Amino acid sequence: MLKRVLAAAALLFAGAAHAGPGQHAVASAHPDATAAGIEILQAGGNAFDAAVAVSAALAVAEPSGSGMGGGGFWLLHMAETGKQIMVDGRETAPAAATADMYRNDAGEVVASLSRNGPLAAGIPGQAAALAHLAENYGRLPLAKSLAPAIALAREGVPVDAPMLARLAWRFEVMERSPATAAVFHPDGSLPEPGQRLPQPDLADTLQRLGEHGAKGFYEGATAELLVEGVRKAGGIWTLQDLREYAVVERSVITQRFGDWTLTLPPPPSSGGVVITQVFKVLERLGYDGLNAVDRKHAVVEALRTAYRDRAAWLGDPDHVEMPLERLMDGDYAKQTAARIDLKRARSSADLASPVAVYEGGTDTTHFSVIDADGNRVSATLSVNLPFGSGFMPPGTGVLLNDEMDDFSAKPGVPNAYGLVGTAANAVGPKRRPLSSMTPSFVESENTIAVLGTPGGSRIITMVLLGMLELMDGGDAAAIVGKPRYHHQYLPDEIYFEPKALTADEQATLKSRGFALRESGRDYGNMHAVVWDKAAGELNAASDPRGIGAAHVADAPGN
Ligand code: DON
Repeated sequence: MLKRVLAAAALLFAGAAHAGPGQHAVASAHPDATAAGIEILQAGGNAFDAAVAVSAALAVAEPSGSGMGGGGFWLLHMAETGKQIMVDGRETAPAAATADMYRNDAGEVVASLSRNGPLAAGIPGQAAALAHLAENYGRLPLAKSLAPAIALAREGVPVDAPMLARLAWRFEVMERSPATAAVFHPDGSLPEPGQRLPQPDLADTLQRLGEHGAKGFYEGATAELLVEGVRKAGGIWTLQDLREYAVVERSVITQRFGDWTLTLPPPPSSGGVVITQVFKVLERLGYDGLNAVDRKHAVVEALRTAYRDRAAWLGDPDHVEMPLERLMDGDYAKQTAARIDLKRARSSADLASPVAVYEGGTDTTHFSVIDADGNRVSATLSVNLPFGSGFMPPGTGVLLNDEMDDFSAKPGVPNAYGLVGTAANAVGPKRRPLSSMTPSFVESENTIAVLGTPGGSRIITMVLLGMLELMDGGDAAAIVGKPRYHHQYLPDEIYFEPKALTADEQATLKSRGFALRESGRDYGNMHAVVWDKAAGELNAASDPRGIGAAHVADAPGN
């Protein structure tokens, strides 16, 4: 009898848990992309259709961060079934890629090869991911969800200040590609602020995708133009590489800490493994009971170990064996915690010479969506460095990524983000480069949060700090606005935004032996949606560091 009552209660609870917020919310890095998502939701689409619309609109409106020539991870939650899955649309290395392709005859890494021009580009995954989302999870046809982006590409989106700054930075690289320059250097120079930059070839490419699904990108006219352009400019793509590209649905990492459940991306994202390790170590260090500076000390030391393990072990799950269970188990966290002394900094082994770490923080992009039924998407998308490789195959409008730089070009040699790696993340045919992108969900009985950010190697710590802020009672605005600090094992230093550490905290951490480096400017561009189920409120916020927009709208008929 008791059992039956309990079962009935569980069913009731499950039923209640499936009811949605009755409103929609979208937070993204560009107002036009947020508007595209809301438009599709108002037209009867669900969160997955909105994700297609936002991703495609970002490709047009924020081409420095992500695009049809790039890839990403789309973390999904289906309200009706509770199913959660990650759509892995990460780029793959072309079949002709080799472990030493970015080294010269002397065996030294030539960084420009993996960062600029067609050799830097992996086979893009975004087009396949959008088709997959529409076909398997959406309510609307792909073409309908792509329509707002196609309209934006035809009209052109006005150049904003962050875009202009990145165009200036990447001017020379982009100038080398005539098709890129034709779009982004009107009259042979930088555009004026506010000038519209139409992208008619990209509009046509999106239209072919809408009409024919993934085949409209990976086969036929688009594929031929992509491969011809890449090969003529010295790249190694083949039609077969494109034809064989496939998204992978991966099981998410789910972890419970106290009252909170985290849903995290698995490899080839490193975010889920690193965040799990860090939380487990923090639990064992009694994080909740620590004072403010000891909390930061604990986070930094937990990160040091987790980023070391990232470098040593993580890579493409379809090509390398990884000790994931071990890295995420309680015993290992216990051992790690036992080696941390909250009175003194440890020192990272000196594996790499000091490097100039790329200071960026807002390329790549993230958006968060919850629809009225409670479906959710947390998506982080990338072309890697601003405007990716800078190379555009003529006639496609598709700026290719430089995600190949996320591989370890040589063991111990840092990439653009100062990250080192081993054979686990070596370049190899059809491999996916290890990523830091960490789209996530965090929930308790009363709260559901969808969050993520760009920011290279710092993505993982930003998401971690956002989660800790939520757990401390912060709302969406507090989560995205939280001042940030970071440690990634190498370089062995705490990197921090000016407001992240008080003068006293800086003095204390220095006296404990930490090296501190203040960031020249703020970094990251986080977008979060938080549903407070107890209060019946949906909140969304875009990072004050960027120009993004967050919007909560009543669902049609509500
Ligand atoms: O996948 C990764 O980890 C990188 N390609 C992300 C790059 C990024 O966030 C750039 N932003 N600063």
